[in-house]
Amino acid sequence: MNILHLSAECYPIAKVGGLADVVGALPKYQQRAGHAARCIMPFYQNRYTETHAFDPVFTGEIALGEESYPFSLLRPQDENLEIEVLLVQIPGLLSTDHVYSSDDAKRFLAFSLAALTWIIQQATPPDVVHCHDHHTGLVPFLMSHSLPFARLKNTPSVLTIHNAQYRGEFSWDRRHWLPEFPPERAGLLDWDGQINPLAAAIKCAWAVTTVSPGYLEEMKQQARGLEHLIRHEQAKCRGILNGVDFEVWDPETDPYLPTNYRSATVHAGKKANKEWLCEQFQIDGTLPLFVFIGRLVYEKGADVLAEALAETLPAQNFSVLLLGSGEPHLEARLTALKDRFPGHCGAYIGYNEELAHRLYAGGDFLLMPSRVEPCGLNQMYALRYGTLPIVRSVGGLKDTVVSIAEAGGFGIRHAECSVSDIATAIAQARSLWSDPRRMKKLVRRTMARDNSWEHSTKQYLQLYSSYIP
Ligand code: GLC
Repeated sequence: MNILHLSAECYPIAKVGGLADVVGALPKYQQRAGHAARCIMPFYQNRYTETHAFDPVFTGEIALGEESYPFSLLRPQDENLEIEVLLVQIPGLLSTDHVYSSDDAKRFLAFSLAALTWIIQQATPPDVVHCHDHHTGLVPFLMSHSLPFARLKNTPSVLTIHNAQYRGEFSWDRRHWLPEFPPERAGLLDWDGQINPLAAAIKCAWAVTTVSPGYLEEMKQQARGLEHLIRHEQAKCRGILNGVDFEVWDPETDPYLPTNYRSATVHAGKKANKEWLCEQFQIDGTLPLFVFIGRLVYEKGADVLAEALAETLPAQNFSVLLLGSGEPHLEARLTALKDRFPGHCGAYIGYNEELAHRLYAGGDFLLMPSRVEPCGLNQMYALRYGTLPIVRSVGGLKDTVVSIAEAGGFGIRHAECSVSDIATAIAQARSLWSDPRRMKKLVRRTMARDNSWEHSTKQYLQLYSSYIP
């Protein structure tokens, strides 16, 4: 099969969150399973594009109403990329130094149009066009219903929803940005009186997947208004759990770790990594170490976590390290915690891939109190590094973390994203920690979990095959 992924992010070229990790890994595993998988994404002005050379592949022009934009398709000269990634460069529109901004509707529509313009020039179109999140959400509609891309009418499109909180809506006043389509199809673009790329993709894609089965079930019940649509389209919806790229995330070979380790050497290995961390952050390494890694936003429960830590840290019987960036008021709260509890709390405000790896390796417990978690990759990285996950029972967290209250369990699950639930879970973890034999057993259990991409890759391939004659 010839598969083309369209995404706003792809690791290692541009990453804001888990979307990049998934799009950086899935095509690679599809390729290894014997298929031709490629990815097309925007060209941003970032460290990757500034430090790599590119070969031109194609040039074209797109129109957004009266405005026209020349674009180029570039291929990075990068031997480390296992799959072909093509970058759409649109000067003055897409080539910004950030992935997301306030004019995303226009930027990502331009990206989608450029990608489609290139696709229809190909002698044979891909067998499947796989779109990720709302950024490329108009693509299934454009393929099925717009006149300039009518050649792609019979090409299956798949939408994967990584996060339905964001939909990319924009006003019908901007309808002129879209290429010509039969007016009676306008309803397919509409949700609540606006052009809604995520809703349009749920309606128009041949198949829709969510990044965990649990999240799909939740979306049918509650998806800020989209639940009716999901229920209506449920026959073509499927939950496919994300995997972990076991090559990137392997404590035995991870180049970022001060000390590498594997299951047989996990205790000494984690101890050395913990010592390194505690020294860097000047925190007490004799206590259990909790870590939090994530975007500092409401969805991730960062506000409640800060409150729970402010309540529990005065007892001074654990240490915590926090890594993330996001809403300024949450960043300020974490910084305040660090200042208030020196020796017990450390924080790094920003994005730091290297430090994230080190936190998984050196932490004893990972905190993930998310309000919403479509899949969650951090808990799976934690498992791989022998760090016990403490998660709220939601979405993909529920699907991947078995509670210690159950047979074969290895994690702590709490029902609510609330101060009292988080505080109780921390207390539970503390008492586990004071039982080293039990801890050792649980750590080994986590490392034995197999959340590799192979399973999920098979499910995606089966899904595509069901649409390809
Ligand atoms: C989004 C979701 C997260 C998921 C990731 C990759 O970031 O919030 O839960 O793991 O996408 O699919």
